[in-house]
This record gives sequence, C-alpha cells and structure tokens, in this order.
Amino acid sequence: MKRDLSGGEDNGDKRVVFLPSRGAGSGDVDAAGVLDSRLLPDRDFLAQWDAVIVETAQKDRLLSQAILNFTLREKVNRANLPLHGLIVMHGPPGTGKTSLARGLAARTAEAIGKLGQFRFIEVEPHALAGAALGKSQRAVRDLLGQTVAEQAERGPLIVLLDEVETLAGDRARMSMDANPIDVHRATDAVLAQLDQLAAKYPHLLFIATSNFTRAVDGAFLSRADLIENIGLPGPEACRSILRSALDELARACPGTASISQDAEFERAAKHCVGLDGRRIRKLVISACALRKQTAIDPNGLTATDVLEAAIQAQEESKSIREEQS
Ligand SMILES: Nc1ncnc2c1ncn2[C@@H]1O[C@H](COP(=O)(O)OP(=O)(O)OP(=O)(O)O)[C@@H](O)[C@H]1O
Ligand SMILES: [Mg+2]
Repeated sequence: MKRDLSGGEDNGDKRVVFLPSRGAGSGDVDAAGVLDSRLLPDRDFLAQWDAVIVETAQKDRLLSQAILNFTLREKVNRANLPLHGLIVMHGPPGTGKTSLARGLAARTAEAIGKLGQFRFIEVEPHALAGAALGKSQRAVRDLLGQTVAEQAERGPLIVLLDEVETLAGDRARMSMDANPIDVHRATDAVLAQLDQLAAKYPHLLFIATSNFTRAVDGAFLSRADLIENIGLPGPEACRSILRSALDELARACPGTASISQDAEFERAAKHCVGLDGRRIRKLVISACALRKQTAIDPNGLTATDVLEAAIQAQEESKSIREEQS
C-alpha cells in the first residue's frame, strides 16, 4: 500500500482519504502575532466543534454563513451586496466560543473541498496590543497586511481573531485609557486592513470572538456578516455537558461508568443550570478532588460527590456574580 501526498492511501482498488491531522503549527507560519497556524480540516478542531453542545440551528447558521463566504463572495459586487467575510461570536466566558470558532474553521474546510487546501491562522491579539507606544498600528499592519495577505495568496484561509476587543477596541470608549491614541490607531488599522483584505481575497474568512461586545468597536461589528450570541447552556444542554464530562472520566476510570445512571446525577445536572460549559466540565474534576481517596483513585467517585461539586460550583458562581454586581 502506498501513501500519496494528499494524505490518502491507494490500496489498489479503492482510494482511502485521510484527514490531515498534522496539528498545531502545521501551517508553518512563523510571524509576530500568530499564535497557531495549521492545515484544515484538523481532527482536534473537528472534535472541539462536536464537544460544544449548543442548539443545532445555531451551529447550522454558523456553518452556512461560513460556507457562503467561500461560495458567493467572489461572485457579487460588494457595493450592492456587502459580504465582508467576518463572523463574530460573543457571550459570557466559558460558553464555547473559541472551540466553536476553531471547529467552524475545520467544518467549513471539510464542507468545501473543491477550493483547495484550506489554511488556518490564530492571531494573538495581546501580542499586538502589547506592542510599545506607537507600535500597535504598525504591528497590526504587518500582521494583517503582510502575514495574512501572504497566506491568503496561497489559497483559502480562515483567521481566528480571539478576544477581538483587545485588537479592535471601541474607539468611542477609549478617551480615558492610559494610551488611547495608540489603541485608537490600531483599531483604525484593523478596519482599514479588513476592508482591503476583503476586497482582494474572496476566499478569506475572519472569525472573531469576544466576551464583551460593548468593548468592540461599532464599525468592526457593523462589518460582520453574522453576529451570534453564544449564551449559557439551557437545562438539557447542562445535562449533556455533565454527562459528556463523566463519559470522558469513565474512559480513564471505568469504575465511574454508572454515575450518570444514578438518580443523584439528575439532581447534579439540575444544579448545573446557570453555570457555563467550562465550569460544568470542571466540576467533575472538582468532584474527584473532594476527597483524598478519590484523588488517589477516581474509580471510587460517586454520583453524590458529583452532586456536592455541582452545589459548590453553583454557590461559587453566585458569590462571584454578587461580588461583580
Ligand atoms: N455549550 C458547551 N457544551 C459543551 N462544552 C462546552 C460548552 N461551552 C463550553 N464548553 C467547554 O468549556 C471549555 C472552554 O470552552 P471555550 O474556551 O471554547 O470557551 P470560550 O467561550 O472561548 O471562553 P472564554 O470566553 O473564557 O475565552 C471547552 O472544554 C468546551 O468544550
Ligand atoms: Mg475563548
């Protein structure tokens, strides 16, 4: 059996196609402000998409919009039908925005095979915004105008702007900031570059995430083709997330496999309502750490431990909310 360059295998009578699973760094982009670059579709990203439990309609909307960017944008006049190639996801911390953004990139590449090899770049916004006085604007111009443009020349490209408020801060709210002029200019530079890139590269898509849309510049948001609010999971999703975290634990510690059949599990799931997805997954770990015995051997974990951890997580979350209000 011989392996060909596209990652497939020729076994004589039928061709078996493999997903490239070359992982982090496989996009081979080594430039300031780039956190990760890889070839798509990526197995890990596909798994992240599947792991986030939101309404199917919401995943469908995201995927359709991303696909449309690659199928329609090159065919329409921007002046009449302004597709910018920008999707924004916002919502509270820990609700799966970054996972969905990465997964969306992978799913989109998977859905549109005919355009060629998709690439992915994740921007490190803090590296750009953290540049010394007067340098942010330049750093943004280098990253978007050079690095992203170079990659977009090679073929279809999806760029993740995670925590975009850092990069495209709201200019209207900056007047009291320590270094408002520099940030102001960086936001101007992002907007100018986005417009230029959108006009030149129809096979380029930006996916931006934010915890805090009020801190994102209005002109940036107005360029978005789709803005999706990723909210806290509802009761059924909470139950599924808790179950999925316990399933993962059971893979490592089979003694815990029956927990999700216990009546206490249903009570624990109810106590998860109001928590974010990250907190729900983590409370399974907290449950193992409630007692030294279960920390040494988590196979001894019970549904009652999970319930106790859920109650604790709910109380912690309540006290954080009270502190912040
Ligand atoms: N709705 C959900 N369903 C299943 N898992 C979830 C959900 N929301 C979050 N998670 C899990 O929580 C973890 C964190 O998710 P992620 O980093 O994507 O969240 P985020 O919204 O980007 O958070 P932040 O705003 O803090 O950056 C991941 O392991 C993810 O699978
Ligand atoms: Mg995130």
